[in-house]
Amino acid sequence: MSYIEITYPREKKAFYALLGEQLALYTDGETDRTAVLSNASSVIAQAFPEANWVGFYLVSGEELVVGPFQGKPAVSRIAYGKGVCGTAWKEDKSQVVEEVSSFPGHIACDCSSRSEIVIPLKKADGSIWGVLDMDSVEYAYFTEEDRVGLEEVVKLLECVS
Ligand code: SME
Repeated sequence: MSYIEITYPREKKAFYALLGEQLALYTDGETDRTAVLSNASSVIAQAFPEANWVGFYLVSGEELVVGPFQGKPAVSRIAYGKGVCGTAWKEDKSQVVEEVSSFPGHIACDCSSRSEIVIPLKKADGSIWGVLDMDSVEYAYFTEEDRVGLEEVVKLLECVS
């Protein structure tokens, strides 16, 4: 399947409907976790040109371990409850961070990052198997609408939970 350049609408409902359609192209019928998450990180990064890091951290014991991503090299392991990612896991709650330097315990990977959003990935039973992490160089780039939209589209990834 060759990738066709997508122009995403600005309006968030239409934006997330199209993002879901694009993700489904790579989740439907694919059961390999690396394949699905690699393409998902690329699809999401293409949709968010202002995001400088888009990727996944996956639960491994008491830690999150970096998975497929787009962006600069990042910390490999994050302990439960640490950083924005570990906090999303511990609190079982998406984190929308306007200014990363104001988040206690934020783990800096790319120094140019200013805002961040982390969305837990959940199995059907509600348990968390990883997180989607996105950074932006812009202050307060991610909004509540993004939180709602991303929480919806990541449900497509449950096929490789
Ligand atoms: N900022 C994250 C660490 C991962 S990087 O952003 C890719 C955190 O505080 O958990």
